Amino acid sequence: MQVVLRPTADEASSLVARMIAKALRAKPDLVLGLATGTTMERLYGILGRMHREEGLDFSLVRTFNLDEYIGLAADDAHSYHYYMYNHLFRHINIDRRNTFLPDGMAKDLKSEARSYEEKILRCGGIDIQILGLGTVGHIGFNEPLSSFYSRTRDKSLTPTTVAQNSRMFEEPSLMPRRALTMGIGTILESKALILLATGKSKAEILAKAIEGPVTSMISATAIQLHHDCRVIVDEEAATSLQAREYYRWIYENEPEWEEYRGK
Ligand code: GLP
Repeated sequence: MQVVLRPTADEASSLVARMIAKALRAKPDLVLGLATGTTMERLYGILGRMHREEGLDFSLVRTFNLDEYIGLAADDAHSYHYYMYNHLFRHINIDRRNTFLPDGMAKDLKSEARSYEEKILRCGGIDIQILGLGTVGHIGFNEPLSSFYSRTRDKSLTPTTVAQNSRMFEEPSLMPRRALTMGIGTILESKALILLATGKSKAEILAKAIEGPVTSMISATAIQLHHDCRVIVDEEAATSLQAREYYRWIYENEPEWEEYRGK
């Protein structure tokens, strides 16, 4: 794992956007795993701008989102289908037929989960999975005790997650208590992972997730097991990290980051 600290949330998000852009230029039909949440809005804003101003081409890209609420239709303003359309898809030249999210309205959730996994496989697997970090330490909606071998499935949300996310709903009681989410096993099969975390509210859980012991109580610790994982954070999110100086040194000196430095 490599951890990169950037001074602000804008700079952290812009670094992730440039990493995605580089991968996209190398492989125009990239299979990109996407996340939702307020952290990602900044990233998607930058990708939209790169499309408009630099002609970043998404025409062949395939995308798979981590999760969706059970019981919300795609046109519900609180659904992740809607979120993705609103924050990213309508701002880029992606073919909507190549964008996939689990169907939270499916009658048979088990078979929807199975078919979602099959679609990922048919596309050749996910090249880069973007991850956020929930306050409970989840990635996707993999709540505490999610098995590291888990696959896409329906999952009940913890009170902490409900408290975190219900602020997006005008009426908090309308927030679904269950979701369909990729499993930890599904996420770990992605060829590369990029976790983006910004802001003070993430500092403690981020330190546990990347420097703490691996435990299914904090599903984000599973990323420590991935062989190709980068964690990009801003200074505020980094305040509780023990090895901050080391991470700074890596970014300033490792050849991998040279092309991004000073921009
Ligand atoms: C939701 C999503 C997660 C995401 C998290 C972070 O819970 N299911 O995938 O990482 O939100 O949200 P935010 O960026 O708003 O802190």
